[in-house]
This record gives sequence, structure tokens and C-alpha cells, in this order.
Amino acid sequence: MATMVVYLCVLSLLFLPFSSAAGRRGISQQTLEVQKHLNKLNKPAVKSIKSPDGDIIDCIHVAHQPAFDHPSMKNHTIQMRPSFHPELGVNFGESKASTKSKRVTQLWHTKGRCPEGTVPVRRTKQDDLLRASSVKSYGRKKQTSIPKPKSSDLDFISASGHQHAIVYVEGDKFYGVKATINVWEPKIQQSNEFSLSQVWILGGSFGEDLNSIEAGWQVSPDLYGDNNTRLFTYWTSDSYEATGCYNLLCSGFIQINNEIAMGATIYPISGYHSSQYDINLLVWKDPKEGHWWMQFGNDYVLGYWPAFLFSYLSDSASMIEWGGEIVNFESEGQHTSTQMGSGHFPDEGFGKASYFKNIQIVDGSNNLRPPKGIGTYTEQPNCYDVKTGKSGDWGNYFYYGGPGRNPKCP
Ligand SMILES: *[C@@H]1O[C@H](CO)[C@@H](O)[C@H](O)[C@H]1NC(C)=O
Ligand SMILES: *[C@@H]1O[C@H](CO)[C@@H](O)[C@H](O)[C@H]1NC(C)=O
Repeated sequence: MATMVVYLCVLSLLFLPFSSAAGRRGISQQTLEVQKHLNKLNKPAVKSIKSPDGDIIDCIHVAHQPAFDHPSMKNHTIQMRPSFHPELGVNFGESKASTKSKRVTQLWHTKGRCPEGTVPVRRTKQDDLLRASSVKSYGRKKQTSIPKPKSSDLDFISASGHQHAIVYVEGDKFYGVKATINVWEPKIQQSNEFSLSQVWILGGSFGEDLNSIEAGWQVSPDLYGDNNTRLFTYWTSDSYEATGCYNLLCSGFIQINNEIAMGATIYPISGYHSSQYDINLLVWKDPKEGHWWMQFGNDYVLGYWPAFLFSYLSDSASMIEWGGEIVNFESEGQHTSTQMGSGHFPDEGFGKASYFKNIQIVDGSNNLRPPKGIGTYTEQPNCYDVKTGKSGDWGNYFYYGGPGRNPKCP
């Protein structure tokens, strides 16, 4: 027994200093890496606003935003407005500023606004980076998660754990997409899962070089550190391999608007059997410059993805999708209880189930029109489902979503 104690003491003497030194070195290296990345992401602010949800919104000079970190952006002349708008044609401009609808906005507006000539950017905090599996992976999707309608690749679906309930069109050239999206705050079972509702603009095949532009709302505890519903965008030009990111977390999207921050909390949100709130999203390709522009609400032209980011999408999109996506990690061998949409099935209808309405595409003549020949897709309708319809007021619409785990989705 005594020899054992001595032996253990010697062991500790040998190993403790060594392992703690290694630990210190590991931590300080990580801290350095985190600090370096934070300095890269967070540009010097003209003004900072503390939002009630804990976010800090930095007002960054428009020419200092992350987009301009990219070497190929150095000579880019920023476009302060698109040359064409599918709802307004070419001659739109200042006159429409007075018609702003202020119904659904962003929570940080209660504490201030960003001055002209700046853009609001959600500050990335140390904790945000520490939640990511690595500094490099922060703000990026971990794996391909594009819903593949008509796919027989069931292995892909179950392996990735992503589940969808979507409506889509394909087999044509598309130059934009529009939708009014009902906004909810779905419950997330565990922090590395998420729930989102979005549009996808896709170009190319589902191979290595898929181009994608995505926009909508999401609840993603790992990305944002809370369960709030946030406005987001995503882009990639190589199937999520080396390019692309959420929001302004890499060089890509160029923001021009000083009122709406990517990744900020949307407010207010809908309640079950209570008030319903929607956001309008429009993404379209400028026929002259080739950039893909995004508008939030009826008036906020947020900015654009420059055409040179993409291969296929520098010409046109070959598929458009609308709908919901969740991640199911099946912890303890059961289906996740992470909700999609409102957490209720489409059958429940208005005020209870979440919807997309007035879904439209931009055609080859740059006109908005209802999509023709839409399909629907969901992996497990007993977990999350989708139901389409058409009416005078709502145009082409669908209800989608569900609770995840339930007796029929064990
Ligand atoms: C930017 O413009 C300068 C001067 O015209 C040129 O020398 C340089 O190569 C350009 N850089 C890029 C990345 O296009
Ligand atoms: C998010 O919601 C889950 C339950 O759905 C809860 O366990 C967790 O604490 C919440 N996270 C935060 C940061 O509020």
C-alpha cells in the first residue's frame, strides 16, 4: 500500500506539471485564435447599441464591413441600389421611403438606430466562438443540408439528421423568389439542433459545386446563444465545403441598409390562437449587374451578394424551395422534440400552424409570378408535414411544420 502511494506521488510529480503546462498552452493558443477571429469579424464601430436580448449591434461604416476583407472585393464599387426591382421596374427610388410599414422589426430598434452611411452588424462575442466546434467552423453549416426532393438517397437523409417540409419548383430558369413567412419561436430540444423557415435559391447539381442563397428566420442556440427567432441569410458556392457563411460572418454579402441587422432578433412573433406576424422576403437578380439583391419587409433593401461569388447562380437559379428544416440528433434513440414552424401540423390551419403565403418566383422576363408545377417534399410526414393551397388573398400558400416526437413519430 505504501509503495503504491509513493508510486502515485511520483506519477503526479511527473505528470501534473507536464499536463497543466500543456493545458495552459492549449488554452492560450485557443484564446489567441478566438481573439484574432473576433478582431477580424468585429470591425471598429461608429456607434454601438445594446439590445434588450443581450446583443450588441455595432454601426459599421458601410465601406468597412466584412465583405471588403476579401481580396477580390478590393476594387468593388459598392452599389447603393439595384438597377432594377421586380415589383417596381427601373424607375423606383427615394419616393417610396415614406411608405414604411413598421409592424415587424427588430428588437434592438427599441434602444437606438444606426446613422446614415453605416450598417448594423451583430457583434460576435467570445462565447459565440467558444460554442462552435472550432473557430473556423463558426457561422458555417457543418454539412450538406439542402433538401433533395425525389432523392432516393435515404442514407444521406438519416446520416445528416436534417429534416424538411418544403415546397419546390425546378426545371426552369429562375431569377428570384418572394414569400410572406409566418414568424414563430419553435422549441429546440438541445442546443446543437436548430429550426428554421426559409427560401432556397439553388443553382447547379446537388454535387460538389452546388450554389445556394438562403434567407429566412431561424432559432439556433449554438449560433446565437439563445432561443430567439432571428433573421438570417446563408450562401455557398461549393455545397458548403469551403465557401459561404451565415449573415455577415464572412466576406460575401454586401449590406447597404442601416436599419436591419442580419442575425438580429425579429419582434414580435406569432402566438398560438393569438396575433399572427409575418415577414416579407424578396431575393432577385439584378439583370444589369448580375448581383442577387435581398429585400426585407416592403421597403428595406438590405444589400446584395455580388455575382462573382457564384458559378451557376451568376447566370440563373435552376430550383427554388420554400419551407422548414430542423436537425434531429435523436438523443436517447428517440426522435427529437425540436419543433418546426409553430410546432403544430398543417391541418390545424391559421393561427395554429405556420405558413408561407403569396409564394412567387421571378421569371426570365423579370416578372414576379406564381410558381407553376410545384412539388412538396418531407422525409417523415408523421413528424413534420406540408400542405399546399391556393386562394385569392393568399395566392399560392402552404402550411408546414410539426412537433417532431409524438406517438406516430417515436
Ligand atoms: C485593383 O485595381 C488596381 C488598379 O487598377 C489593380 O492594379 C489591381 O490588380 C486590382 N486588384 C484586383 C484584386 O482586381
Ligand atoms: C433554450 O430552450 C431550452 C428548452 O427548449 C432550454 O433548456 C434552454 O435553457 C434555453 N436556452 C436559453 C439560452 O435560454
